[in-house]
Amino acid sequence: MSAGAISRAAPPAGASQDWTIDQAWDRYDSGEHAVWTTLYERQKALLPGRACEPFLNGLDALNLHRGGIPDFRRINAELSRLTGWTVVAVPGLVPDAVFFEHLANRRFPSGRFIRDGAKLDYLQEPDIFHDVFGHVPMLTDPVFADYMQAYGQGGLRALDFGRLHNLARLYWYTVEFGLMESAQGLRIYGAGIVSSRAESIFALDSDSPNRLGFTLERVMRTPYRIDDFQQTYFVIPSLDALLGATLQDFRPIYERLAKAPDIPIATVLESDGVFTRGTQAYALAGGAAP
Ligand code: PHE
Ligand code: CO
Repeated sequence: MSAGAISRAAPPAGASQDWTIDQAWDRYDSGEHAVWTTLYERQKALLPGRACEPFLNGLDALNLHRGGIPDFRRINAELSRLTGWTVVAVPGLVPDAVFFEHLANRRFPSGRFIRDGAKLDYLQEPDIFHDVFGHVPMLTDPVFADYMQAYGQGGLRALDFGRLHNLARLYWYTVEFGLMESAQGLRIYGAGIVSSRAESIFALDSDSPNRLGFTLERVMRTPYRIDDFQQTYFVIPSLDALLGATLQDFRPIYERLAKAPDIPIATVLESDGVFTRGTQAYALAGGAAP
């Protein structure tokens, strides 16, 4: 789940003040459970050697494959024991401040609905497979768990400073589409990648995208694609390095960003650490991911 457009709106009918709803796990039908199982098995087979160890370990620790769509009560028993995080159900995109407030309190807002089984790869807004399979395993890692909480606190500050568009890029290029170095090569930790079959392959194997070393201000100056595979991925050396880079006060950074131009999406700078200089062949041909 990510933050949506409307701010200061009242929660929809049936939702609590904090926009949460009951997951109502008993109301999923067998077709919906089957969609989960199909998606789960597809990604589970694809991700060893592609996803990072903390993700794969988290996936195993949470037992997300028992009996279709996971019951949040069961996930939360284990997740809260590991890192103090819980998953809460929300009706769809929630206002920015509501989203950040949840993260700052170690609650991850997840959609309750699951995508249509006839369109397994097509998603207009994040569903429970993206939110739970993609995001929740990383929340079992203590360092990533702290990063997400700090991000929530930082989101509330960014709103005050009027720099949310810059901070949102940090979320996008780390939490959603981040790559990480490992002794065995690049690995995925971003939820938007691990929950997508096609992008799990494209992000690591394609010659098309750039893969560049992560630096905070550079990332905050780089726009992103919401409609197709990314044209640039940013690589962190470790989760500790990511958390370390964000522990500083962002106020001076926001002041600099107010005067710094955006960097075009596919540009490689002189100052970038380059893992791959992409051909951009995919994007130049018009893209259109499945
Ligand atoms: N340190 C950031 C600030 O001062 C908060 C933050 C932490 C933002 C981690 C993102 C990730 O606003
Ligand atoms: Co997401």
